[in-house]
Amino acid sequence: MKVLLAASEVAPVIKIGGLGDVIGALPKALEKISVNVDVIVPFFPSAKIENLQLYKSFDLHVPFANKNNVVEVFKTKLPDSNVDLYLLKNEEFFVAGGSNFFANNVTETQMFAFFNKAIVEYVKSSFNTYDIVHCNDWHTGLVTGLLNDELGSERPRTLFTIHNLNYQGIGNPALLRDTGIVPGEHPLIDWDLADGDLNMMQQGITSSDFINTVSPSYAKEILTKEFGSNFEDILKAREGRLSGILNGVDYSAQPRTYDINSVEEGKKEAKKALMDRLKIDKKHKDAPIFSFIGRIDAFQKGLDILFDSLPDLLKEDAVFVLLGTGDKKWEEKLITLSKHKTISDKFSCNIMFDIELANLMYAGSDFLVVPSRYEPCGLIQMIAMWYGTLPIVHDVGGLKDTVKNGETGFVFNRYSAGALSASMKEALDVYGTEKMTQMIQNAMKKDFGWEQSAVEYKKLYEKITAHV
Ligand code: GLC
Repeated sequence: MKVLLAASEVAPVIKIGGLGDVIGALPKALEKISVNVDVIVPFFPSAKIENLQLYKSFDLHVPFANKNNVVEVFKTKLPDSNVDLYLLKNEEFFVAGGSNFFANNVTETQMFAFFNKAIVEYVKSSFNTYDIVHCNDWHTGLVTGLLNDELGSERPRTLFTIHNLNYQGIGNPALLRDTGIVPGEHPLIDWDLADGDLNMMQQGITSSDFINTVSPSYAKEILTKEFGSNFEDILKAREGRLSGILNGVDYSAQPRTYDINSVEEGKKEAKKALMDRLKIDKKHKDAPIFSFIGRIDAFQKGLDILFDSLPDLLKEDAVFVLLGTGDKKWEEKLITLSKHKTISDKFSCNIMFDIELANLMYAGSDFLVVPSRYEPCGLIQMIAMWYGTLPIVHDVGGLKDTVKNGETGFVFNRYSAGALSASMKEALDVYGTEKMTQMIQNAMKKDFGWEQSAVEYKKLYEKITAHV
């Protein structure tokens, strides 16, 4: 079985969000169970290549936007593995990397349409030896259609993984001219264009052979109006080919100075280090620390309900630490709130991206708040458990699949500031009790490693190749 895993990012070389973590870890776990996976991503100038043995393999000639474009194919290994990683270099198109690709703007759709075209040229140049091309999110949505055009029934089978249905890559129909796709010859594209734009997520969903998403619960939720982002009917029509596989955690990327037997002491030290680093007043040294780590995305990440519930929480003897960047309006609102004189000594607001601080927060906090409105999988709640930090989560998607209320964390059902406050209140009541010690043990016993998920992917690949 030979698989080509295509995506916009791969940790640690190009890391923007959770997608990069998945693409960096899944192939290594698959390699251990004898699935041969190659990874292909754009070679953005921001790529961290210092420690890689990189060499130029060959040139691809990619017809796009009425000209012949040269793409240099660089080859290396995914760090600490034998997985081949292909980086596609083109200075005209792959320039904007390193920011984020969540926006639905025209430049990004063009960049990724070009990437999709280059992937197909790469598949052809490697003598069409892949059994499966495994695509991820809208950045790879046109791959199946383009493979069909070039290779017809000889094309590899395709799997399309939805990591976040809400970001769709909505482009101008003029893009089609660039890719060389002739609308009248593609019923699925004609259907998509009927509303005036080209939606790369829709292309991935409708044209791929199989679809999956990153947790069993999210796979069900996206069939509903509430979570379907207008694709619920299309997804229902393809339900027989849709499944959910929970992401894993790459524990080797999460350094920890203690384990389940030394957690009490270990967390005490980490808490002190965190308080020192953030210069939190010593008078709060015994107060519980609640943390938020993540993208400041008001729609997905639940900042609105968090914002409304913070004043209540901080009336108590508690500390709140936030780390993340994103939406400017929300960044400012949070900074302003954190400076309010009644809470400024208890609210440390860190608008930045800092992996080291994130790891210190996982270890040194008592509770990690994940109030997302929707969450396809979410990694941080699992990482928190590994550090013995109890997650407080909304009952959706991967959060629902990984946290058990009162056992390994706290789960609230309604998406409201009131429900979140009530859950945080429960956490405050449990803080420092025998029950908390037990819950920390339960959380640390959980194993969310990639091994299990890799077995599920292997089974899915086998099902796809057996299917005619
Ligand atoms: C997206 C989702 C997140 C998921 C990640 C990796 O970022 O929002 O829930 O964990 O992709 O699949």
